[in-house]
Amino acid sequence: MRLDKYLSEMNVAPRSVLKQMIRKNQVLVNGAPVKKPETKVEPGKDEIMVEGEAIHYYEMEYWLLHKPAGVVTATRDNREKTVMDLLPQIRRSDLSPVGRLDKDTEGLLLITNDGALSHRLLSPKKHVDKTYFAEIDGRVTEETVQKFQEGVDIGDETLTAPALLIIEESGEKSRIRITITEGRYHQIKRMFEAVGMKVTYLKRLSMGPLVLGDDLSLGESRHLTEEEILMITGKQ
Ligand code: URA
Repeated sequence: MRLDKYLSEMNVAPRSVLKQMIRKNQVLVNGAPVKKPETKVEPGKDEIMVEGEAIHYYEMEYWLLHKPAGVVTATRDNREKTVMDLLPQIRRSDLSPVGRLDKDTEGLLLITNDGALSHRLLSPKKHVDKTYFAEIDGRVTEETVQKFQEGVDIGDETLTAPALLIIEESGEKSRIRITITEGRYHQIKRMFEAVGMKVTYLKRLSMGPLVLGDDLSLGESRHLTEEEILMITGKQ
């Protein structure tokens, strides 16, 4: 692979800047400066350093972000800060979020360039469980639990698939956990609206086998572990 392609895929800098960096001896291959952007390197074998930092190459990258409220789930946006702005700069340049959390929703967001995995996780047929914690303006009762279990009319062609609702606290303001298997637009907010209540806080806790632990503060991200990658991709 060409050196400039390697560095550009790992988002080190735009290609034009990379060319200058290479010419200025800021890039070392196996300890020696190289002058030509087209120099061939072997990912995983050659050691590439840029300004003293080793740049590893990943063909597939899997990031878990603890999304804060106030950032949009998009790869780029002209006005708003996006979830991609929260990842470290040195990471693949072709990453995208898997699905979407609303701007005011917090919690677990998977970001990857594994398109096949994204497709599988988002496919309505796959029924991947997504569990959220929410605060609700309104009294959530066993009747709501029953309704969510049966499916609710949120104005789409079909009722929502059965959702598991667990009440943690019920009062004028309630605290709940909900597990859904679909990913319809504003789904949880619309489900509560359909029963006359309002979601005032929403946080995704898990998606399939991936769980948001307390190792990540709001806005922090980390690579998935090998074990998590195996669980989510099903590859051995
Ligand atoms: N449901 C919503 O209403 N919003 C989200 O961000 C996720 C699920």
